[in-house]
Amino acid sequence: MGSNGWNQSAILDIARQLRDEPGALLLILRRIQDELGWIPEQSVPLIADVLNLSRAEVHGVATFYHDFRHHPPGRHVIRLCRAESCQAMGAVALARHLEDRLGIGFGQTTADGRFTLDAVYCLGNCACSPALTIDGDIHGRVTPGRLDDLMAAVEERRS
Ligand code: FES
Repeated sequence: MGSNGWNQSAILDIARQLRDEPGALLLILRRIQDELGWIPEQSVPLIADVLNLSRAEVHGVATFYHDFRHHPPGRHVIRLCRAESCQAMGAVALARHLEDRLGIGFGQTTADGRFTLDAVYCLGNCACSPALTIDGDIHGRVTPGRLDDLMAAVEERRS
C-alpha cells in the first residue's frame, strides 16, 4: 500500500519484526517499500539502530538497488519491461509513447503526482511481450492505444 507520508513507528515495527531473519536488512527495506511505496531517508538511522549497523551501511544498501524508491511514488505506478523479448516486440515504441505522453523519463514522477514511470527487466511474461504493470497488475501484448485505455481506466477507477 502506497503512502506519501512516513511513519516512524511503522518502520520500527518492520525492522524489529525482521531483525533476526537472514538477510534482515534487505527484507526490511523491501517491506518498507511494499508498505509505504518508498524508503524515506529518515528510516536509515532507525534501521541502523535496530540492526546495530552504521548509517552508511544501511544507506549503501538502500541506494545500491535500483528497485528501491527514495521519493514518494505517484498515485499510479507504471513499470515497463525493457528486457530483450519485450524490446523486440514493441517496448521501444511504448517507452517513447509513455515518455511523450507523461513528459517524464524513467524513474520519474509527473509534476501533478498522477504517474510514476519505472523500467523493469523481465516480468516473467515474455510470451505476451511487450509487458508492463500498472499499479501491480500485469498486462501483456500492450500497444500504445491499449496503454492509453489502461491508463484512462486506472484514473477512472480512482475517481
Ligand atoms: S522480457 Fe519482458 S516480460 Fe520477459
